[in-house]
Amino acid sequence: MIAPSILSADFANLGAAAEAVSQADWLHVDVMDNHFVPNLTLGLPVVKSLRRATDLPLDCHLMIENPDRWAPGYAEAGAANVTFHAEAARDVIGTARAIRSAGALAGLSIKPGTPIEPYLEVLKEFDTLLVMSVEPGFGGQSFMPEVLSKVRTAREHVNAGHLRLFIEIDGGISADTITQAAEAGVDVFVAGSAVYEAADPGRAVELLREQARAGMARCAHAAGRL
Ligand code: DX5
Ligand code: ZN
Repeated sequence: MIAPSILSADFANLGAAAEAVSQADWLHVDVMDNHFVPNLTLGLPVVKSLRRATDLPLDCHLMIENPDRWAPGYAEAGAANVTFHAEAARDVIGTARAIRSAGALAGLSIKPGTPIEPYLEVLKEFDTLLVMSVEPGFGGQSFMPEVLSKVRTAREHVNAGHLRLFIEIDGGISADTITQAAEAGVDVFVAGSAVYEAADPGRAVELLREQARAGMARCAHAAGRL
């Protein structure tokens, strides 16, 4: 699945930005609070407006402190998937359950320097694992290929039946990097600048999907994914 990130879109025209990528699978919405990350973007009122402006499932990525308090509200606002950061949460399992009870998929995100092993057990409570491939906070940064070892670990656990979740990657995904991420076992690819800085964002989504499919076919752990 391809999830364009509106972080790289025109914030004065978010409805049009969603419409421009109608062929996408999810619309990735980066919520930043200027505390967990050194940047400030948007919050619940904008997500509520986006929900009315597009039929695309909203993939809310909360880069905020105290997600335990705020994450369920995004599910209640109609987000399809609500992802919060493992580094920020106090009660990881309780927050996942609250998101699911409010009707959304629950996602856990880990920053590039955060190992996956301590979270393998709690990931049973989640529908999505978001592996950050840049330091969260800004679009347009360079992809960090070293995080793909975490994708491979997660893919092995999914294929072995220990976990049932989407493996999502976020940061620096472009025509140059999407194939290696697909080969490692990613299911959902977030792309901000590669989509919204393209002359035709919709066409960019289609091209990324074609390249992801080619990489997925070469994934060593592809069984059951195609
Ligand atoms: C970064 C955000 C990303 C960002 C990705 O903290 O979580 O979703 O939009 O942008 P690109 O694709 O330009 O790296
Ligand atoms: Zn994001």
